Amino acid sequence: MRVAVFSTRPYDRLFLSRANATGRHQLEFHESCLDADSAGAAEGALAVCAFVNDHLDAKVLQRLHAGGVRVLALRSAGFNHVDLEAAAALGIVVGRVPEYSPYAVAEHTVALLLALNRHLHRAYARVREGNFALEGLLGFDLHGRTIGVVGTGKIGECVARIMAGFGCQLLGFDPHPNPACVALGMRYVDLSEMLATSDVITLHCPLTPHTRHLIDADALARMKPRAMLLNTSRGAVIDTPAVIAALKSGRLGSLGLDVYEEEGDLFFRDLSGEVLRDDVFARLLTFPNVFITGHQAFFTEDALTAIAETTLANIDAFEDRGEVLHPVSIERVV
Ligand code: NAI
Repeated sequence: MRVAVFSTRPYDRLFLSRANATGRHQLEFHESCLDADSAGAAEGALAVCAFVNDHLDAKVLQRLHAGGVRVLALRSAGFNHVDLEAAAALGIVVGRVPEYSPYAVAEHTVALLLALNRHLHRAYARVREGNFALEGLLGFDLHGRTIGVVGTGKIGECVARIMAGFGCQLLGFDPHPNPACVALGMRYVDLSEMLATSDVITLHCPLTPHTRHLIDADALARMKPRAMLLNTSRGAVIDTPAVIAALKSGRLGSLGLDVYEEEGDLFFRDLSGEVLRDDVFARLLTFPNVFITGHQAFFTEDALTAIAETTLANIDAFEDRGEVLHPVSIERVV
């Protein structure tokens, strides 16, 4: 099948080509992001393969459909960037990679937590400068501290397992409690109790209309003073200007981010020689207690292999039976 693959970097081409070693599919790699301007590049392809910052609104989907596209294979677990109603109306089947390596994202989340707590980003720079002073590097023992996990699905469960190993108390907030987390000793609470009692809150829910700006000014005001907030889910789960205000006032102790609401204009490319035009992001970079990575939590060999294999398995299944292995449907947006 002819497949137009958007937002590709050399590592995407490497892992997708490996997964397509039999040459079953004709993969056409496009570096550009998929949007109304670039959608024409998919003309004649039956399948489109897209990533997290591609624009898949009704207009783009209509263009793709007019050009012959019938299946959309997302190289991601998240599907908040797709207008599923428009896709359904056009009869475009949407598939995703529901699970590729929850360990990759969970381990990166814990890396952010540890780096922030022990100020490793500052310590690294200091030692290289010959500055061995410890002032400003004070952390806290994780043992006995309370970790609030928002969204206890596959990734949230992995985080809970790791943090249980550190000897932390586990709180969960999720409309669908996970028995594996309960078995770890997690106590499910409402969001208010989690905000008020957690030393660290880590977000692992999908971005939906219910979770957009879940962490807003009101939620931040209800958090334990000086708590740590981690977001490796989707940028818009937090209200970034509200978080900046909480950092400025000292109410929020530290912030670890792998995702950002406006990351589509920034992440996955080298902009080091350009002027940073996003003032909100620029402000975030000024805080010593903020650690940001550019949506790299998924970026392990194991995860990229699994993403490529599942993406092509979705396309294989569509070619064989007219349906993908891991469909996304409107009902999933709860
Ligand atoms: P999952 O579907 O296994 O778990 C999500 C959990 O969130 C479910 O248990 C669900 O019940 C819960 N949830 C849904 N609505 C909620 C709400 N309103 N409040 C609290 N919990 C709610 O998904 P998985 O695989 O654990 O991934 C979670 C998210 O992580 C994805 O949706 C994606 O946005 C993000 N992600 C980020 C990556 C990165 O590289 N930074 C890579 C992969 C995923």
